[in-house]
Amino acid sequence: MSASSASEKLVDNFGREVTYVRISVTDRCDFRCVYCMSEDMTFVPRARILTLEELARIATAFVQLGVEKIRITGGEPLVRCNVVKLMADIANLDGLRELTLTTNGSQLTRMAGGLRAAGVRRLNISLDSLDPDLFRRITRTGKLAHVLQGIDAACAAGFDKIKINAVILKNRNHEEVLPLVEFAGSRGMDITFIEEMPLGAIEDHDRAEAYYSSDEIRRDIQTRYTLVPTTERTGGPARYCRVLETGTRIGFISPHSHNFCATCNRVRLTAEGRLLLCLGQEHSIDLRQVVRSHPGDIETLKEAIRQSMSIKPRGHDFNLTEKPIIFRHMNATGG
Ligand code: GTP
Ligand code: 5AD
Ligand code: SF4
Repeated sequence: MSASSASEKLVDNFGREVTYVRISVTDRCDFRCVYCMSEDMTFVPRARILTLEELARIATAFVQLGVEKIRITGGEPLVRCNVVKLMADIANLDGLRELTLTTNGSQLTRMAGGLRAAGVRRLNISLDSLDPDLFRRITRTGKLAHVLQGIDAACAAGFDKIKINAVILKNRNHEEVLPLVEFAGSRGMDITFIEEMPLGAIEDHDRAEAYYSSDEIRRDIQTRYTLVPTTERTGGPARYCRVLETGTRIGFISPHSHNFCATCNRVRLTAEGRLLLCLGQEHSIDLRQVVRSHPGDIETLKEAIRQSMSIKPRGHDFNLTEKPIIFRHMNATGG
């Protein structure tokens, strides 16, 4: 991977440059996390999902338009067949600075080495609890032991950085904050705490009641650790602190308490090929239709992407006390 060689930039109507694309390769997942999915989910039929070739073509178009960072996500990206080959193809794109992956960790025992060899240097792994029973209740189907083994396999595979992601829900897993900080710190990993976002209807809990703010999490952490604010960024929405005792970082993704839309640098592609200009709005264009009706024509694809910048909204209107205005769940959106 080399520094950006693209001469073009994608800039929206608010002057924000889009340099980061999150690509969902599947809406399917082997877990059913309570904040992400309802218990009974209908998944998109395979014919409507972009092929690996179509995904690679769209990634190429974005990189030619100045995108420097691509994150592969889902659903659970590692349940998609041959995803490692796609990742190797994307990692080799001239101009891409970073290819990363967000995963639930369930498949890492067998896949961590291949991902590293494909050119993935950073991994984000979701982990909301270190208690096997609570982990099972939050993920509905997940086995904590598999994920911990996956994290060990990832550590052994030599990634530059592994980050843990935890969505914290009040009275559900807020008591896991300190054990998770301890777990990440003792392994030299960063950890990011995420405020739940109201995407899709869920029946498990009331999102307003389960709201646990980043400030509450920070206060909990400070009962045992010293947090030093830093201005370091990774290109994502997290604000970071350094933990004096461990030298690792703690990130806070706070869509409710610290809106970060003004500095938004990203768009996301759903597994169906819908380019969403904002996580919390419906503004989108259909890139599947473009790739399928103009096979091999990357210029038409690039022009559609350029045009989409004009409809990127200013930001989300998340509101926890009303019914979600965004009907798609996070797995369909691309976590
Ligand atoms: P790095 O900073 O590169 O580690 O990535 P990241 O934090 O962007 O990626 P990650 O997949 O770890 O994102 C964690 C979570 O942040 C996502 O699952 C979302 O919940 C949230 N997130 C990422 N991008 C956005 C965004 O544009 N808007 C909002 N509201 N949340 C986002
Ligand atoms: N709010 C916030 N984060 C969510 N994730 C999934 N659903 C939600 C939601 N409603 C997170 C997962 C994982 C990433 C893929 O998205 O925990 O870290
Ligand atoms: Fe960007 Fe939308 Fe996320 Fe705000 S909610 S940071 S505008 S993608």
